[in-house]
Amino acid sequence: MPDNRARYVATILQAFILGAVTYYGVKWLMDAMDPTKKNRLAAQKQAQKLLKKIGIEGVKLSEYELTVAADIVDPLILPITWKDIGGLRETIEEIKESVIFPIQQKDIFKNSTLLSAPKGVLLHGPPGCGKTMIAKATAKEAGCRFINLQVSSLTDKWYGESQKLAAAVFSLAVKLQPCIIFIDEIDSFLRMRDKSDHEATAMMKAQFMSLWDGLMTDSTCQVVVMGATNRPQDVDKAILRRMPCSFHVGLPDAEQRKDILKIILKKEKLNDDVDLDKLATLTEGYSGSGLKEICRVAAMSCVRDYVKKKNNPQMQDSIQDENGQPHIRPIEMDDLLLALEKCKPSATLQR
Ligand SMILES: Nc1ncnc2c1ncn2[C@@H]1O[C@H](COP(=O)(O)OP(=O)(O)OP(=O)(O)O)[C@@H](O)[C@H]1O
Ligand SMILES: [Mg+2]
Repeated sequence: MPDNRARYVATILQAFILGAVTYYGVKWLMDAMDPTKKNRLAAQKQAQKLLKKIGIEGVKLSEYELTVAADIVDPLILPITWKDIGGLRETIEEIKESVIFPIQQKDIFKNSTLLSAPKGVLLHGPPGCGKTMIAKATAKEAGCRFINLQVSSLTDKWYGESQKLAAAVFSLAVKLQPCIIFIDEIDSFLRMRDKSDHEATAMMKAQFMSLWDGLMTDSTCQVVVMGATNRPQDVDKAILRRMPCSFHVGLPDAEQRKDILKIILKKEKLNDDVDLDKLATLTEGYSGSGLKEICRVAAMSCVRDYVKKKNNPQMQDSIQDENGQPHIRPIEMDDLLLALEKCKPSATLQR
């Protein structure tokens, strides 16, 4: 009899050990097979730190929302304000009026379905003309939270997970409102749907749109989806319909180029011969980032001269100023003209 009992106990023990080994074995195998898990955990850890830093405490977030929360940007540390954007005064005024004002003065707009902030804003135009800058400055000036949505954070190899992540983007934004969901290069994420789309991608896009519709029916909700693209013709028509507020950010004209050059060069030492009017006339076809590249190349030639002098034993007297700091000569008009020859607009446009 005692023999039997011992056998029973041994069998139960064996079954228990086998069960435990199988459970942990399968779990280990699943974890090993899931390449996104490590990234997901890291993203969640980073998100928790970030949320604390921007003063969001006591808001309960799901696992999916935490994954998306890694893309939140603290508006206070966004380095861009309206003053940093040159030559786009009219666009900025329109954005202030139609996007920022309704967010900041929500009481005025709360009883009207027609006057609430648009739920979708599209910035389109050639590369390097300031679309991303405008989006960041909008968040900063409106005092909004800003989710800089990385499309890669929505893709998950497990079926159905991407949809849960897409849902989390909107539920997180609602919890954080007022909030801007910014999708840069929106054409690559929400491009024209076609038959070659993977089923999961097509479902995610459809769900994204229906969640977006959910925002539109709630007039008190202060969540804006802002997209930027240089190929608006590739964006799905149904998405364009959801972005009634659209701004063209085009190549700057001569006056705008002068404005941009002033901003880019405002902290640099300039020689008296620098003529920004002339430079603005000569830079037809250049984008804001093209102009920045010209200024960077010009500034580099001053540094190059300094290095040459430093390496020349006979010129040691002129490499320091009266405070013992490195003396780098001011940028001259010739530096800028030489840089202009090196940086052709086509090259700078195809960044
Ligand atoms: N209007 C502008 N005023 C001042 N700087 C500008 C302006 N436009 C562009 N720049 C400079 O060019 C850089 C690129 O601008 P930004 O990233 O906003 O361009 P973009 O329109 O988003 O381009 P892409 O379509 O390639 O994403 C900025 O960091 C800034 O230095
Ligand atoms: Mg951009």
